[in-house]
Amino acid sequence: MSIPLEPFWVLRFCEEGAGVVVRRERIPWEALDPGSIGIRIHYSGINYKDLLAATGRGQILRRNRLVGGIDLAGEVIDSRDPAFPIGSHVAAVGGGLGETRDGGYAEYARLDPEQLVRLDPQLSPLEAMQIGTAGFTAALAYQAIREAGIGPGAGPVVVSGANGGVGCFAVDLLAGQGYPVTALTRQSAWRRDLLALGAREVLDSGKIDPSPRPLLRGQWAAGIDNLGDPVLSWMIRSAKPQAAIAVIGMAASARLETSVFPFILRGVRLLGINSTQVEPTLRKTLWRHLAGDWRPRALAQMAPRQLAFDELPAFFAAPVQPSRFGRTVVRIHPELCPTTV
Ligand SMILES: NC(=O)c1ccc[n+]([C@@H]2O[C@H](COP(=O)([O-])OP(=O)(O)OC[C@H]3O[C@@H](n4cnc5c(N)ncnc54)[C@H](OP(=O)(O)O)[C@@H]3O)[C@@H](O)[C@H]2O)c1
Repeated sequence: MSIPLEPFWVLRFCEEGAGVVVRRERIPWEALDPGSIGIRIHYSGINYKDLLAATGRGQILRRNRLVGGIDLAGEVIDSRDPAFPIGSHVAAVGGGLGETRDGGYAEYARLDPEQLVRLDPQLSPLEAMQIGTAGFTAALAYQAIREAGIGPGAGPVVVSGANGGVGCFAVDLLAGQGYPVTALTRQSAWRRDLLALGAREVLDSGKIDPSPRPLLRGQWAAGIDNLGDPVLSWMIRSAKPQAAIAVIGMAASARLETSVFPFILRGVRLLGINSTQVEPTLRKTLWRHLAGDWRPRALAQMAPRQLAFDELPAFFAAPVQPSRFGRTVVRIHPELCPTTV
């Protein structure tokens, strides 16, 4: 396989008027953002950020007419770097793909080595995209909680937005490492799935303690938050002494209202998580863990849906996205991607 001589398909996100238009286009190889490694993309995925970018709700696009998709995995077809030989399997998550440079909704990509990881033989391109930014971010948060000195014996760990992509990977990883996990979701329909991933209990995130008191009964040794307020404020106020809360997302709100009391009276720590800019050595270390001792135990259950590349425009055009469990993988080259997993 070598670089394509004919134009190929990409999905571009174009800012037009007040919104974003998602458009399938055929472009030549030279029209892709430059990079020293050429990749034939097998799979991509759909993340919360991709939905924000495609709908223009989140001001994700830093450049107009960008190829969308913050994740990709595939095979190297052109390389000027011996660390990425032709035929090797690679993945890229975050790193500005689909935000500042062309991303994974395309048949091909050109990236630089700093943006890529070479996949461990234990992890196929499909499995890498079942994990995607969501699983990688859960691993980053878990690493931060471990570095904060919180082990499985420290007490319960609470995960919000637990049925979402990041949330269910966090539940699976923490439970697999022996932590007692409390999963928060607003949908009772996902209760059984979260218990099956290893959550010890599932709570309704709409029924958290509404008290405005600055400190509540200390319950959590650690937390992973995907929502922002009001859940994040409650998590901080109900954290145990020396607890660490990893702050990942703002699916409910970008706000955080708190007082200083949890920090100065209980020593609670907030750990900011940013999966977009991860230093290459840490990125490699986390992917090695994800292929090995942190390998998600229920990958197929946590990425239960697949879409074909040409189904993406209709998917992004849906006015309301229903509640879903876990991740959706995108099959880019149908001939390389079995339709069953
Ligand atoms: N910091 C980073 O590097 C990083 C990396 C990845 C993701 N993120 C962020 O993390 C968040 C989660 O990402 P994801 O990929 O897991 O998204 P996702 O798969 O869409 O999951 C979102 C979760 O949030 C819940 N949710 C949404 N709106 C809510 C509301 N108003 N009240 C309560 N729950 C609500 C959803 O519940 P329903 O199913 O009931 O809607 C679902 O459980 C997003 O904000 C994303 O941007 C950050």
